[in-house]
Amino acid sequence: MTRKVTKAIFPVAGLGTRFLPATKSVPKEIMTLVDRPLIQYAIDEARAAGIKEFIFVTSRGKGALEDYFDTAPGLEAALRKKGKLDLLQELKNTNMESGAIAYIRQHQALGLGHAVWCARRLIADEPFAVILPDDVIAAEKPCLQQMTEAYAETGGCMVAAMEVPADRVSSYGILDVKEDRGSLVQAAGMVEKPERDQAPSNLAVIGRYILTPDVLRNLNRMKQGSGGEIQLTDAIAEEIANGRDVFGLRFRGQRFDCGSKAGFLQATVAFGLARDDLREEFADYLTELIALQNAAQ
Ligand code: UTP
Repeated sequence: MTRKVTKAIFPVAGLGTRFLPATKSVPKEIMTLVDRPLIQYAIDEARAAGIKEFIFVTSRGKGALEDYFDTAPGLEAALRKKGKLDLLQELKNTNMESGAIAYIRQHQALGLGHAVWCARRLIADEPFAVILPDDVIAAEKPCLQQMTEAYAETGGCMVAAMEVPADRVSSYGILDVKEDRGSLVQAAGMVEKPERDQAPSNLAVIGRYILTPDVLRNLNRMKQGSGGEIQLTDAIAEEIANGRDVFGLRFRGQRFDCGSKAGFLQATVAFGLARDDLREEFADYLTELIALQNAAQ
């Protein structure tokens, strides 16, 4: 029997350079899709998958993130006084239970693998999840829940996987496929950001992982890899080299790369159109805009 996954690491210590100048003072994870910050989508997904302990790997300048999860007594009192009970409820949903959330500092942005390693003492000896909040996944059943359900059957390590176009493989960790069972794939290897002609497949790793504590032990010995960073991919690949199972799950859902400007804009449009209170007005606006653009061409 596999052990239940109850801890998740949220690495949020990156520099977010693709969103400068905004990220000079606003953490990327606080940027909003409609009215909810990226981090809230990640937390909700983790909760749905049964996560009870939330570990944030942060860095200098990410104070707004810590404040976001605090209670806001002044604001709550003001909303209560005005009778805005819906908003009050909305706000309360963002509060975290005392002791459920921990913050660890990554003192230098040495890469995703290093960020995960920084949380090692809070994980100790149990399987854990890693969620990258800038990968937002819209799905009927939340992606991490799909993964924990599959993991209960397989054990080992599991990564979320998705086919990407051949000209995009060099932006991702790519799986070398040993056995393709449809939604589940067993990996024979993993390589971070390969050149297009060196990629073992076009099956890319997306920012959701279920990992064994062995991966943390591998990270203890990791040297800098692709891009001079300590790569999580390399530490997972070492598990395969050591004869342990690593699976990719082709999740059901739509993934938005909110770490890139184009992906963030696409997500904004999709999430805006998915909202009952905005759909009609927003769709009318988009239709009008496209008509105007077509007329101008
Ligand atoms: P990215 O590759 O998107 O890097 O990191 P970034 O710094 O956030 O953004 P850009 O590329 O400069 O625009 C993927 C995830 O890994 C975390 C990031 O916070 C993000 O959630 N990360 C990355 C760390 O926590 N520490 C690191 O050293 C690197």
